[in-house]
Amino acid sequence: MDRFFINGPCKIKGSIKLSGSKNASLPILAATILFDEPVEIKNLPNVKDIETMLDLLKSLGFSVKKNKINNSVIIKKKKIKTFASYSLVKTMRAGILVLGPLVAKYRKAITSLPGGCLIGARPVNIHLNVLKKLGMSHQIKKGYIYANAKKGLKGSIIKFPQISVGATENAILAATLAEGKTILKNCAIEPEIKIDLTNFLNKAGAKIKWIGKRSVQVEGVKKLNRVIHSVMADRIECGTFCVVAAISKGELKINGLNPKIISTEIKLLKKIGAKIKTLDQSIIIKGPNKIKNIKFLQTKEYDGFPTDLQAQFMALLCKADGRSVICESIFENRFMHVAELKRLGAKISIIKNKAIIKGNSNFEGAELMSSDLRASAALVVAAIVAKGSSVINRIYHLDRGYENIEIKLKKIGVNIKRLS
Ligand code: EPZ
Repeated sequence: MDRFFINGPCKIKGSIKLSGSKNASLPILAATILFDEPVEIKNLPNVKDIETMLDLLKSLGFSVKKNKINNSVIIKKKKIKTFASYSLVKTMRAGILVLGPLVAKYRKAITSLPGGCLIGARPVNIHLNVLKKLGMSHQIKKGYIYANAKKGLKGSIIKFPQISVGATENAILAATLAEGKTILKNCAIEPEIKIDLTNFLNKAGAKIKWIGKRSVQVEGVKKLNRVIHSVMADRIECGTFCVVAAISKGELKINGLNPKIISTEIKLLKKIGAKIKTLDQSIIIKGPNKIKNIKFLQTKEYDGFPTDLQAQFMALLCKADGRSVICESIFENRFMHVAELKRLGAKISIIKNKAIIKGNSNFEGAELMSSDLRASAALVVAAIVAKGSSVINRIYHLDRGYENIEIKLKKIGVNIKRLS
């Protein structure tokens, strides 16, 4: 298994270009199931989860033609099978996103339950309930969802009992081809949904209109036309590199993202003392000499502080002057990075879903273990400013969602090597 060797502390300076967003790419790739015509998707990040989703589409009977130069694929429908196997869905929970489109387009599907992961049980009850309200019936047998909609899906007015990114995506995909009008309320409004997925489908002839902050109207259409779409930049990768600059008194220019999309994170980075300039599609950040603490920081659904940056900000606040508290309110077990940060010298205690970070820690290089995608990013961030060498094991977690991360880090001054 690959691991990273990082020798700190590192002087961070330079610029990086963001990759395409993993979390925008996954629902857009699932949406290609709705098409009869070929679809071209550009700017896909070359990461494991995208590979897995492309393998899943191939297993469903689509052809996938890759163009490595511009990270694009052309997806064409061949002989459709409506069976999504456990072997593919277990490693990438977003596999559940093929359920809505398969039932909407082919009126049946057998998809594996995604199974949990380290950050939580990751149930799909909200996905199943909203699809049921659109006319899907299903039963669960031996870890698989046997679903069908004999008379096709019918539009409906549905309010989500709680905000769910994946369930919102599944519902929009299903409603796109459902008969009649669907109104979805209390939706997740991450830019990957409200901007990228919506634009992609509307370009292909769908009729999706956001009629309120968290309400969307979808008028079902008979078919979608061929379309070419370039995926938006990855805002979590952007936030991760902002933290790299903030923790290391570094200076970075991060290109490819409209800064308005991460205004909450920018406010927080200014609060800890970073100097930030924003251009149309770039962010210029200078880390502070002294990092200020944040008394209380809670993860929330977009446009609140994202849970996917919680671990990285925790590493940053370990170096702040004073005590900070982070409350994780989205997932039930997303503090796997705490034990590893403590191996570097962090002083953190956990009470239920709150982490109390003492601050003013001096990190000393150590051997570390990755546990999930964003926890591993936090370990990289911390190792960059730790004194001496760190080894980060099981970085396949990182490879799931960060494209060429060691190449990007090396380019801005990190002394990092991938050891296989
Ligand atoms: C998406 O996961 C992202 N993944 C996650 O990013 C992100 O952390 C999460 O949204 C929250 O922003 C992708 O986009 C591929 P949810 P998702 O449904 O859709 C509970 C990363 O690091 N819930 O909004 O699974 C759920 O257990 C990944 O890139 C139910 O109870 O998140 C969680 O506690 C990690 N029943 C909460 O809702 C359901 O049917 C939010 O989950 C669905 C969700």
